[in-house]
Amino acid sequence: MAEQPYSEKVMDHFLHPRNVGEIPDASGIGTVGNPVCGDVMKMYIKVENDIIVDAKFKTFGCGAAISTSSMITEMVKGKTIAMALAISNKAVAEALGGLPAIKLHCSILAEQALRSALADYYKKIGKDSSAFEPKEDAHGH
Ligand code: FES
Repeated sequence: MAEQPYSEKVMDHFLHPRNVGEIPDASGIGTVGNPVCGDVMKMYIKVENDIIVDAKFKTFGCGAAISTSSMITEMVKGKTIAMALAISNKAVAEALGGLPAIKLHCSILAEQALRSALADYYKKIGKDSSAFEPKEDAHGH
């Protein structure tokens, strides 16, 4: 019998994703997609005094994409923007108890969705986001 490739935490966040939905008055919205698998993530953040006070997401994608979106929204809440930018896709995968190697790109999508939402926020407040804005072709392959 094949071994279950996903950790319990991945399964938990896939079956019971946290922070699904939209923030109507979001400070920043980021949408990213992976052209290879076709999965799309949309992330909403609410920022007050440089702190991310809320984060929500909608992911049309695989189970690992849903789990990593769920986890990253949990991880960023209460963090400063600088702290949120320091969250790598590896940190998200680790927080989930690991991901199979072929599913690491799903965590990259989550990292990029967050960065794209932060870049959107920076643009709105007139700050330069070029240092962390996801590149068009950076889809983790
Ligand atoms: Fe594409 Fe998971 S298979 S994000």
